Amino acid sequence: MKVKVNTSPIEGMKPGTSGLRKKVAVFQQPHYLANFVASIFAAVMPENGFAGRVLVVGGDGRYFNLEAIQAVLKMAAAQGFAKVLVGQNGILSTPAASCVIRKYKAFGGIILSASHNSGGVDGDFGIKFNGDNGGPAPEKVTDAIYAHSTTISSYDIVQAPDVDLSRIGLHVVGSMTVEVIDSVLDYQALMQQLFDFDALRAFFKDGFRMTFDAMHAVTGPYAHAIFEDALGAPKGTVINGTPAPDFNGHHPDPNLVHAKDLYDLMMSDHAPDFGAASDGDGDRNLIIGRNMFVSPSDSLAVLAANATCAPAYAEGLAGVARSMPTSGAVDAVAQALGIECFETPTGWKFFGNLLDAGRITLCGEESAGTGSNHVREKDGVWAVLLWLSILAKRRMSVVDIMTEHWAKYGRHYYTRHDYEEVDIEAANAVMNHIKSQLPTLVGQSLSGLTVMTADDFSYHDPIDGSVSNHQGIRVVFEGGSRIVYRLSGTGTTGATIRIYIERYEADSACHQLDTQQALAALIAIANDIAQIQAKTGRVQPTVIT
Ligand code: G6P
Ligand code: ZN
Repeated sequence: MKVKVNTSPIEGMKPGTSGLRKKVAVFQQPHYLANFVASIFAAVMPENGFAGRVLVVGGDGRYFNLEAIQAVLKMAAAQGFAKVLVGQNGILSTPAASCVIRKYKAFGGIILSASHNSGGVDGDFGIKFNGDNGGPAPEKVTDAIYAHSTTISSYDIVQAPDVDLSRIGLHVVGSMTVEVIDSVLDYQALMQQLFDFDALRAFFKDGFRMTFDAMHAVTGPYAHAIFEDALGAPKGTVINGTPAPDFNGHHPDPNLVHAKDLYDLMMSDHAPDFGAASDGDGDRNLIIGRNMFVSPSDSLAVLAANATCAPAYAEGLAGVARSMPTSGAVDAVAQALGIECFETPTGWKFFGNLLDAGRITLCGEESAGTGSNHVREKDGVWAVLLWLSILAKRRMSVVDIMTEHWAKYGRHYYTRHDYEEVDIEAANAVMNHIKSQLPTLVGQSLSGLTVMTADDFSYHDPIDGSVSNHQGIRVVFEGGSRIVYRLSGTGTTGATIRIYIERYEADSACHQLDTQQALAALIAIANDIAQIQAKTGRVQPTVIT
């Protein structure tokens, strides 16, 4: 039975870089989740309603995932959807959800995840809408969702028993069909189309060894099925491979702080050939060779330069794209390949139009995301499979691949300094202080480096003509060195200031420096411009990658 529930607007439902993310306790407030879900439906409803349409629902398995899914199912039934496809036990990695939306030509999907944020009852929860291309809703849709959340007065929901999400097969909620699907099968089938599984199986058979850290999060089942079962990597290749609602108390963010065990293993005497990790919802990746951390920006460049090692990309790439704060390493590859390279704002949603229009094949971000036109999300397991394809074909170590890459294209030394959980007003004061210097920075010499341009990045989407302003402050020096400042759009507590620092080095005699040392002069300039310590009291970044 469908009922109308009266409600009133709840403040603060503006989606960030990737959907709405809040503490679990916020989502558990009466009407909170329902208001947002109703706002999604209101914002995306086609003229003739949802009758006959299919929706995909899944999440990363974090705390509150199952309750949220049951509510979404009942609200979708009240909207008249014909069918919802939902991952078994509510599990779909974000790239798998994108894959399922595309494969079954669904109207779109609702993804329950707070990505790499911590989980559990005191952790974070999140929700976002992806459209029929499988990608995150563009800004005009997220703006419309927010607008609706500020005026909502009621929502519809069907009163029905919960669906047994552990049982694969057909169920009903009111007059809507719910099909519980295997979380891995469709995704694995897509990977088998893109990559040469026989060659990868032979590679493992020849003794190649990898450790994949699923970080107690969603990629566990995917990694067990693909790396161990399908490709024959020894059992134990996948570690922390059982998803837990609280990630067993860990923070599923594949960076050098939270994946430190993997890093230490890869730097040790008993390191396997290759190490990788993925995040809470399976879209990010961390790549570490034996004795060699690969920065996400470099990883994107290496994948672009060697993509033809995998069957799906054997014909070459249409073009590539990177987010603005990502280093220019991929630009150098694009130039050598003679293909287009686009610079977009931070956030995967900005790649959607370029991918849909066929202008780019690969894209990636400094925030540990790489992906291609196979889905419309970044994809952690895919990135590992492409790296494996390159290593299997070229039979070189990661160190040798990187050394060769830098010798050919030059090295873009790159680091990101994060100041997390900063007081919001103090963070805004830092950004305003930096902005106030923009008109006078150009032409100045800072520690011997001359500022060429200084601006607040605006993106003009070449496909739909939309403009996105205020996407980060850039200070570019002669020779291409660069400092970028922006506030994170994914945190839930206070503000996170991110400083991205980059320097190009053509001379291969200077390619083996320690990154922080290689960037020391620029780091000092960056701190000088921002005055973080004076304005926030912080002496050191919380995370350096
Ligand atoms: C999410 C998005 C990414 C984006 C990242 C940036 O993971 O999916 O596309 O790069 O957020 O996060 P930030 O915290 O820097 O806004
Ligand atoms: Zn993620």
